[in-house]
Amino acid sequence: MLNLIKNEKKNIIFIGFMGAGKSLIAREMSKNLSINYYDTDYEIEKKEGLSINNIFSKYGEKYFRKIEEKICLKILKNKNCIVSLGGGSILSKKVRSLIKQNSISIYLKVENETLFKRLYNSRKRPLLKNITDINDIKTIYEERKKYYELADFIVENNFKKNDVIKEIKNYLKIL
Ligand code: S3P
Repeated sequence: MLNLIKNEKKNIIFIGFMGAGKSLIAREMSKNLSINYYDTDYEIEKKEGLSINNIFSKYGEKYFRKIEEKICLKILKNKNCIVSLGGGSILSKKVRSLIKQNSISIYLKVENETLFKRLYNSRKRPLLKNITDINDIKTIYEERKKYYELADFIVENNFKKNDVIKEIKNYLKIL
């Protein structure tokens, strides 16, 4: 088991846009390195007993963000774990500060065109339910880009899972 506590920073967290492959890569990394894994969306759904879609439709985005912030802060207080954060969680200043303090952050970057193709038919993501063209992705992305780019390491997710994991592992070795 890789012990991240020996590093000054303690968790490995994945950030990036919806559909960037955060959960998949984070889960694989956790298996690969035998480190505990958390997915903030899953934890939110478990706590609320509702799907993300239903939380949005019943209570709205503002409520979702409040719960999301709470769950993220709780999970990020753990030590030595891998976390996949929902795409909008970095909108919270408190979440961003805690990431800086105790995590190694990895931004999975994907071209807008690719995201659009992947997300066009997504029914799981309330913010993208009615997207019609790539500008809908761009608008949300533009607001977040500056936060995603604060990550310690940026890796292009070309969807060759093993290559991406190898790149991340190489980066972690040099820390
Ligand atoms: C959101 C991303 C989703 C989920 C919710 C809102 C966002 O998670 O938290 O639909 O605002 O970017 P993924 O990034 O895992 O899709």
